[in-house]
Amino acid sequence: MNEEASAPAEKRSLDTLAAIGCSKVVAGLWRVREWNMSAALLKRYVQESMTLGVTTFDHADIYGGGEVEALFGDALTQTPSLRDRMQIVSKAGIRPRGSSAGAVRVKHYDTSRAYLQAAVERSLQRLKTDHLDLFLIHRPDHLANNDEIADAAESLIRQGKIRAFGVSNFTTRQFDSLRAKVPLATNQIEFSPFELQALDDDVFTGLSSASVSPMIWSALGGGRLFSETDELALLLRRELTTLAEKYNASSWVSIVYAWIFTLPCAPYLLVGSRRVESLQQALEGLRIGLSREDWYAILEAARGKPVP
Ligand SMILES: NC(=O)c1ccc[n+]([C@@H]2O[C@H](COP(=O)([O-])OP(=O)(O)OC[C@H]3O[C@@H](n4cnc5c(N)ncnc54)[C@H](OP(=O)(O)O)[C@@H]3O)[C@@H](O)[C@H]2O)c1
Repeated sequence: MNEEASAPAEKRSLDTLAAIGCSKVVAGLWRVREWNMSAALLKRYVQESMTLGVTTFDHADIYGGGEVEALFGDALTQTPSLRDRMQIVSKAGIRPRGSSAGAVRVKHYDTSRAYLQAAVERSLQRLKTDHLDLFLIHRPDHLANNDEIADAAESLIRQGKIRAFGVSNFTTRQFDSLRAKVPLATNQIEFSPFELQALDDDVFTGLSSASVSPMIWSALGGGRLFSETDELALLLRRELTTLAEKYNASSWVSIVYAWIFTLPCAPYLLVGSRRVESLQQALEGLRIGLSREDWYAILEAARGKPVP
């Protein structure tokens, strides 16, 4: 490891997610329907993840039109003791056409008090649990009333239906204006070598100032980093492979995770793979302390130009 390496990310935590027991590496379940798993196989995936120390599972009411939460609930009923040792995250607020919350004509966002309350209750029913550890507004609603959202969140916490509340895909301004009304545990944000906006538009800086950790989604570009035809992916993999050798990492994939975990905003990271080995790669990334120069080498490869 390089002398000027930064402190391993597992040693740093700014946030309140730690207080509710979230693991730094989170298993993201968006793609579960593609995985074609039975409840028994999903239970095995959950157990193996938890054995590795990945105890937090990310859902949304719209994943698989509600089927992902339902399958997870079925998996949980096979071994109810798992529930007490895990943290369940779910999101709501997007109403797709033909969603489980009833037919809608136009896809839209709904963060009204009544909708959020009912959405949480539907998720709890599908997941066969009595509370969510973390509940997020999935996307900013252009018609949001922050007082109403704060009221809904506080009421859900008082009822014991959620332990903590947060948001996803919010700009710094949207985050700060809601946080003025109600405590927010996180902002779940897309970030990868392909998607650098959170770095450039101060979302991470804003979260650090608020001592709130982001949760990062699509860290591998949703799989784009594995493409054999995408030029940027090929270039990035060359750089990442060189660094994997330098840091004795088992794979270049761990270097991507290390790159994200190096951010001073102390992120949590969602892994969207069906394979527990991928969770291990993320955990390895947590332990690698990249040097400043190597961190910037990846940024330069991602942007295709040196920093100004
Ligand atoms: N808040 C939001 O708006 C939002 C939006 C999107 C996603 N999310 C959350 O973020 C999670 C992760 O997103 P994502 O699935 O796009 O992330 P990702 O981890 O960037 O991509 C996962 C995809 O990469 C493939 N892959 C191949 N090799 C892999 C490896 N070694 N490690 C990891 N993946 C590998 C996976 O296929 P295999 O299964 O074959 O490995 C899978 O298709 C989602 O599950 C969801 O929970 C949140």
